[in-house]
Amino acid sequence: MVVKSAFMSYLLSMIDFKKVLLALMPKTRIRDWMSKNALPYRELMAYYKCAMMGMETKFRVLDEELSLKYDHNPIESIESRLKSPESLFDKLDRRGLPMSTESIEKNIFDIAGVRVICSYPSDIYMLSEALLKQDDIKLVEKKDYIKNPKPNGYRSLHLIIEIPIFLHDRKKMMKVEVQLRTISMDWWASLEHKIRYKKNIPQDVADQIWNDLYQCAEVSAELDRRMEAIQNKVDEYAQQEQQQ
Ligand code: GTP
Ligand code: MG
Repeated sequence: MVVKSAFMSYLLSMIDFKKVLLALMPKTRIRDWMSKNALPYRELMAYYKCAMMGMETKFRVLDEELSLKYDHNPIESIESRLKSPESLFDKLDRRGLPMSTESIEKNIFDIAGVRVICSYPSDIYMLSEALLKQDDIKLVEKKDYIKNPKPNGYRSLHLIIEIPIFLHDRKKMMKVEVQLRTISMDWWASLEHKIRYKKNIPQDVADQIWNDLYQCAEVSAELDRRMEAIQNKVDEYAQQEQQQ
């Protein structure tokens, strides 16, 4: 049963993969590409999956430990995803990069993505600081869209991290994109993402929506600050209680 379902998922992933290639490459080149790259591609994706799981575990460990130190769990939820073949090959194509596993590994940093949804903005910095102190990982890139929100109002902390995976015969460093945001930042970002792909909205209505959305980002930042201030106050009393 297990073998059957593993085989089925292997077949399904190959079908997807082939569909994407068919859309992007002339048919004659596909057989060639598949014979050279299908196995290395699947292998590389398996490595990214392992790195993603490793990163998730690091955050779960931090959540467990920090929830004892503070009066709440800093992490509300964690979402992970591997970039789909469609969006991966599309990105390579858009950037004019070669379609090889070497090129994927060298140029695309968001194949493995881990999104950490936190309760409060201070939890985001506490978690990222704790993560970056760990001596087995390496920070490749940091974009702080909380301190410097994007012009549309988008806020999140983005990290590209290299994390080791231990294969049977060697250690390999793999890149993972980590996005840390609060519940309200996440709510905002998912609405913004949905709206961005709506093409049939008249320009004047769209302008109003983008304006409203920007205002919502401001309100959401204010809400985060006020909720955090309440939590801090409650924490103070919780600490006093522990000391008594
Ligand atoms: P790409 O990886 O090509 O997107 O470019 P980049 O590395 O310069 O992007 P960046 O680090 O700014 O953002 C990477 C990811 O963050 C995106 O794929 C989205 O998931 C998310 N993101 C960034 N900006 C926005 C935004 O304005 N709105 C929403 N909803 N998500 C965003
Ligand atoms: Mg990126």
